[in-house]
Amino acid sequence: MKYLIKLGFITLAGALFSANASASCTATLEANDMMQFNQKTLSFSKDCKEISIELKHVGKLPAQTMGHNVVVVDTANIQAVATDGMSAGIDNQYVKQGDERVYGYSKVIGGGETTTLTFATDKLKAGGDYSFFCSFPGHWAIMKGKLEFK
Ligand code: CO
Repeated sequence: MKYLIKLGFITLAGALFSANASASCTATLEANDMMQFNQKTLSFSKDCKEISIELKHVGKLPAQTMGHNVVVVDTANIQAVATDGMSAGIDNQYVKQGDERVYGYSKVIGGGETTTLTFATDKLKAGGDYSFFCSFPGHWAIMKGKLEFK
């Protein structure tokens, strides 16, 4: 009897551990009609082979006027990537095609829509200085945060 209880505990501990491990490779981010993200930092384990960020636009305005996306870059590259993205236009999700400074980006969505960005982490280094931002014209200065990979 004692043995069975112990076995049950180990199974439970294992289930909790794996739930935590997968949770740290995914995140949910909300954006609204006030040009705001609801998180300043997204944290992921350096053990994640892939990162997934679910972006929910909880506002009502359409993508043409209050579009949001999520773009992951080195923090130092936010402004330059945003400027090139503006020129690329909405048909390219406001990201320059083939931009090698971009680790991953989602499509631009409007109010009530949800999209998920999933990208491989092979180019990220543990402890690097990474950020996420929205590349819709004029949004990058406010709509940004740190992406921790450690
Ligand atoms: Co935006």
